[in-house]
Amino acid sequence: MTVATPTFDLVVAANRLPLDRVVDDSGESSWRRSPGGLVTAMESVMQGRDAAWVGWAGEPGPAPEPFSDSGMYLQPVCLSPTEIQEYYEGFSNDTLWPIFHDVIVPATFHRNWWNTYRTVNHRFAQAIAQTAAPGATVWVHDYQLQLVPAMVRAMRPDVRIGWFNHIPFPPVELFAQLPWRRALLEGLLGADFLGFQRTADAENFLRACRRLLGMATKADTVTFTPPGDDPSARRTVRASAIPISVDFRALDELARTPVVIARAAQIRASLGDPKILLLGIDRLDYTKGIRHRLKAYEELLGDKAIAPPDVTLMQVATPSRERVDAYRHLREEVERTVGSINGEYSDIGSPAVFYLYQTYPRDEMAAMFLAADVMLVTPLRDGMNLIAKEYVACRHDLGGALVLSEFAGAWHELHQAFICNPHDVEGLKQTIMRAITAPQDERRRRMKALRKRVSDHDVQRWATRYLDALASAPARPHRPTRASDEERRGAERANRSNRRALDKASERTGQR
Ligand code: G6P
Repeated sequence: MTVATPTFDLVVAANRLPLDRVVDDSGESSWRRSPGGLVTAMESVMQGRDAAWVGWAGEPGPAPEPFSDSGMYLQPVCLSPTEIQEYYEGFSNDTLWPIFHDVIVPATFHRNWWNTYRTVNHRFAQAIAQTAAPGATVWVHDYQLQLVPAMVRAMRPDVRIGWFNHIPFPPVELFAQLPWRRALLEGLLGADFLGFQRTADAENFLRACRRLLGMATKADTVTFTPPGDDPSARRTVRASAIPISVDFRALDELARTPVVIARAAQIRASLGDPKILLLGIDRLDYTKGIRHRLKAYEELLGDKAIAPPDVTLMQVATPSRERVDAYRHLREEVERTVGSINGEYSDIGSPAVFYLYQTYPRDEMAAMFLAADVMLVTPLRDGMNLIAKEYVACRHDLGGALVLSEFAGAWHELHQAFICNPHDVEGLKQTIMRAITAPQDERRRRMKALRKRVSDHDVQRWATRYLDALASAPARPHRPTRASDEERRGAERANRSNRRALDKASERTGQR
C-alpha cells in the first residue's frame, strides 16, 4: 500500500538526518547516530515534538522509506554517489567550509559542484514543501542548504521560514571570493529570520548584503527587494545571534549515573592513574587546532614542564569527511606527530599520548569528560564548539578545568574558562600549565560559574528563543484565503488518516 506523505506544523531540514543508515559487509543495514554538533543539539530539541526532519540518511543511492523515531517523522532525501562527491564533499566541504572558517586551508571552486549544490538544495526544498502543513514553520539548518529558504518560499509562500547557521559567517572580504556569492545571499534572504552563533556573524552577513547586493540594512534587519525590483514584493529579513547550547540536564543526569562514574574511574586506571589527565575530543578537522595543541604539548614535554606517567594526554579524533583531501592530509599529519611524540617521550607502559581514531557513544564520552582533569578545546575557528559545553555539563563534581580558544563561539559565553589563542604556542603552553596548576578552589569557582551559564542557557532555551524570534520576525507571509481555509480543513482530515497509516506501516515493517 502506498502511504501519502503526512504533513507537519514544524519541519526541520538539515543535510543529515539524526540517524545514519549503515550497511555492513553482509548487506545487513542498521541505524547509527549521525556525527556532529548540529545533530547533538537538534535531537534533544526535537524529541517529543510533533515534527518532521528532512535530511540525508548518510549513504549513496535511493532514499529509505520515511519512518518515525522517538515520535519524530524522518523524511530521507536521496543523494547519488556523484552528488555526494559534488554537493557534500565538494561544494559544502571543500568550497564553503574553508571560506566560512577563515580559509585555514584554501577553498576549491568548481562550477559543476555549484550546479549539483543547486540541484540537491532544490530536492530538499521539494521534500520540505511536501511535508509542511499549511502555514507551517520550516527551520532550515546550516551551510549545506543556503539556497533552500528562497526555493521553499517560491514553492510555498504560506510557510514561515527560518535558517540557522551552526558555523561562523565569514567577513565579506572572504565571502566575496565565492563566484556564487549573490545567489547564496539571495537564497538565504528567502527566510523570514536568520539565526547566527555570534553577533559578529550576523553583522558579517548584513555587511555582505549591503556591499554585495547594495541592500539597505538597519540595526539587525535587511530590506530585501527580490530580482525584478517589484516594491510590493519587498520584505524585511531579520538576522541576529542566538547561540546554540547543549541539553544540560540530560548530560548532568547521565554523568551522575553510577555506571558513568565507575567507567570514568576505570578509564583513569587503564591510563595508569595519571596525576593529571589532559583530554581532547574533536572531529578530525583542520579547524579544531589539533596540530597546534599537539605542538604545545610536545614542547611542554621537551621543556620537562610535564612528563608521563604523571601527566598524559588522551586525544580522541572522530573520523570525518575522510574522502576530502584536506582531511586525509590532516589525519596523516596528526598521526605522524602522535607517533613521533610517543617515540620520544613515552616509556614502556606509559605513553605520552593515547590517540583514538574512533567514534564513541554519549555515555562513554560523559565518562571521558568526568575522567579528565583538563579539557583542551583549542579550535582555530569554530561556530560554537559544543564539546566545551558538554564537558561543563558533565562536571557536577566541580572538578576539571576547561582550556578554551578565543576563536570558538563558546568563548563569548564561557569567560571563566582558561582562555587561549591557539596560534600563540607559547601562550597556549602557559595557559595549559595554568590550568594544570590552578588551586582547587579556583578551579571549582570557575567550574561553578561555567555550569551556571550553560544550565541557564541550555538547548531548550535556545530552541524556544529561536522559534519565538522566527514567529515574531517582521516579514509578512502570504495570508491563506477563505478558500484555502476550507482546503486546509480537508487537508488536515486527510493528514490524520495518512499518519495513522504511516504509523501502522512503520510498526509492520519494524522500522525504527
Ligand atoms: C558540523 C556542521 C554540521 C555537520 C557536522 C558533521 O557540526 O555544522 O552541519 O553535520 O559538522 O559533519 P558531517 O560532514 O559529517 O555532516
